[in-house]
Amino acid sequence: MKKEFFGIEIDLDKIPQHIGIIMDGNGRWAKEKGLERHKGHEKGYQVLKDIVEFNKEVGIKTLSFYAFSTENWNRPEKEINFLFSLAKKLATEYRKTLLENKIRLTIYGSKDRLPQDLVNTLWDIEEETKEFNNYTLNMVFNYGGRKEIIDGVKKVIDDIKNNKINIEELNEEKFSSYLYHPEIPDVDLLIRTSGELRISNFLLWKVAYAEIWVTKTFWPDFTPKEFIEAIKNYTERERRFGKV
Ligand code: FPP
Repeated sequence: MKKEFFGIEIDLDKIPQHIGIIMDGNGRWAKEKGLERHKGHEKGYQVLKDIVEFNKEVGIKTLSFYAFSTENWNRPEKEINFLFSLAKKLATEYRKTLLENKIRLTIYGSKDRLPQDLVNTLWDIEEETKEFNNYTLNMVFNYGGRKEIIDGVKKVIDDIKNNKINIEELNEEKFSSYLYHPEIPDVDLLIRTSGELRISNFLLWKVAYAEIWVTKTFWPDFTPKEFIEAIKNYTERERRFGKV
């Protein structure tokens, strides 16, 4: 089935199941406008919600947003706290919208080092929305790809020690089941804003075969139209997964 958005025709049978988004450029957006960095994150938060809202018309099943990486702990405390307050806002003020629209919210990351009240708020809403299976809003939060893999390795070793699995059983599929949210499929399309050509430790295991689309636009200026352009581009690619 075909559907048109902003004069761009999309073949809905070919759209990605899972889009991962590296929302980059909030700081530079603010700087360009002579604003403090947190203003960029504030606008970025609004754009995130706009894309989720717009996606109701497109129908991408899973959207993952890179909201806080393990490397972001190196930022000034004030900025970290601001990002935490946005995460809390998402789980509290935005909660109603998630419930009304039956959107499942998953938190993809580690609880390590996070303030306990934030852990409770985020993982409570994950629990509350876990039965929704139409759309998943996946917040990649306090996340590092290498940490995810190491956390998985530790769990595998535990299971081997406790005779729950044999080493021979371990293959890619089995190992995936030890990662944070095994039920979330691989990323089909990875969008990165602000023109940087990097993966930045984002969903390392799941981006193995992702198609990558980069725009120079800073995240706070990203629009549904660009979202559609990325999807259109994806639907026109030939994915070979290493085959000829
Ligand atoms: C990268 O831009 C962006 C982030 C580190 C945070 C992204 C967060 C949001 C868009 C807000 C939503 C957040 C939550 C927690 C719900 P940057 O600050 O690295 O920009 P720069 O590279 O221009 O400095």
